[in-house]
Amino acid sequence: MDERATCGHSGGMPRVLTAPVVADLIRPTLSAQGVGPAYLRLTEALRHAIADGRLPEGSRLPSERDLPGPLGLSRTTITRAYAELRSQGYLRTRRGSGSLVQVPHVPGGRIDHLLTPSALGEGVLDLTCTAAAAPPGTSEAYQDAVEDLGAYLPGTGYYPGGLPVLREVLADRFTARGLATSPEQVIVAPGALAGVAIAARALLSRRERVLVETPTYPNAIATLEGAGARTVAHPVDHVHDDWQVTELTRALRSSGARTAYLIPDFHNPTGALMPAEQRRELGRVMRALGVVPIVDESIVDLPLDGQPVPEPLGRHVPDSVTVGSVSKSLWGGLRVGWLRVPRARAEEMAASRLKLDLGVPVLEQLVAARLLQDAPQILARQQARLREGREIVLAGLREHLPDWRVRVPRGGMALWCALPASGSTALATAARRYDVALAAGPNFAAGGGLDGWIRLPYVLSPEQLGQVAPRLALAWADVLAGRVEGGRDARGEEARRIIA
Ligand SMILES: Cc1ncc(COP(=O)(O)O)c(C=O)c1O
Repeated sequence: MDERATCGHSGGMPRVLTAPVVADLIRPTLSAQGVGPAYLRLTEALRHAIADGRLPEGSRLPSERDLPGPLGLSRTTITRAYAELRSQGYLRTRRGSGSLVQVPHVPGGRIDHLLTPSALGEGVLDLTCTAAAAPPGTSEAYQDAVEDLGAYLPGTGYYPGGLPVLREVLADRFTARGLATSPEQVIVAPGALAGVAIAARALLSRRERVLVETPTYPNAIATLEGAGARTVAHPVDHVHDDWQVTELTRALRSSGARTAYLIPDFHNPTGALMPAEQRRELGRVMRALGVVPIVDESIVDLPLDGQPVPEPLGRHVPDSVTVGSVSKSLWGGLRVGWLRVPRARAEEMAASRLKLDLGVPVLEQLVAARLLQDAPQILARQQARLREGREIVLAGLREHLPDWRVRVPRGGMALWCALPASGSTALATAARRYDVALAAGPNFAAGGGLDGWIRLPYVLSPEQLGQVAPRLALAWADVLAGRVEGGRDARGEEARRIIA
């Protein structure tokens, strides 16, 4: 069986989309289609919704008998549109299961150089990674930490929960943000992704469902699936910062997922920020259903427009597990992250951690503790740098690619752009000719699709960022002119796991 066909709502019964839900979802695109045969307009509207992940891979469309009513179209129109989608590879029919959404394979474009960054070569603009250079002061923090290290050398150096001094700093930071935390509730891990792995192994059993946003951070999908879980994709309306709580609740109920992995703060890749009101609402839902969220706060320290970030989602679900790190706010090379766990789960999480590794290097923890104490000044500089980068890429897009649509994110490190047509994977392939490395939209798709989207990080130097849009314009012209070749990428699934 095709591996990818299972990744949206993996295995088991497909998610059933009712006729009114599908009709509501595609109506705006349908009315925007203008003139032309009704079945082609419907095909295009459905294809659009599949490509951008709103109709997740593996879900079941309403029967050809049920859809005409809510859409005001004839049954013949629906039948012809479904046939067209089938011939284009967007639907498959399984006996007894009706018409299931699938996303056709797209050629090339996956990026797998991160394990050996030098493979990209000099002069290549690496847009596969949302991570910045170390801030000024990092080198001094290392030198000071070497002095501090002396006090630890007589001991064994094993601190599986983390150095007390760092746990204390982290607990204070949570408490200051409104989530009262004691150092015993903090476990230091080698990065936020390691935090997700620890939480996933503790919370999820084999084949259990976990709800994730789509798009989402690709390595988290791999980590959750690596822990044996099956992902249930929930599309988020990032343009309006809307987590669509009613739909999310429905997805939790129908899938039976008791764990959710969420990035409410300047979500990667979209930059969306969950509003305070939706945090409260979602908190109520999760408490009622007994769902434990793994809240990934990796990007919470990067608001760019001076707005206050709403209180942590974890505040509304006492049983939640929160993960974070200094990778985005300070430097990825430190490999220092953490989990904040409920008291009742502290032992279970500590045990899960010990199954993965025995701790983070003492020196790096000391550096992180020092840098975090100076965080306000360092972060202000990082944010200014990112604001400048965001403006350069946006200005470039306005000039060179005016028909790409992008909502200015209020924080984070990347733009999430809607291309005027599907072709993100082809774009990533074409861009390599112009020395640009990209992670195509489908890498971020939990439920398949998203080939009409591309993520553009703005973390490089201003000079480099100034070249992004002109080079992408050349690559996009190649895509539109059909000058992109490439067979199926056999390594696709493996490769998406190492995009940052
Ligand atoms: C949402 C999110 N979580 C986790 C990570 C990985 O963080 P770390 O390097 O701390 O493991 C990233 C990196 O891009 C991310 O965007």
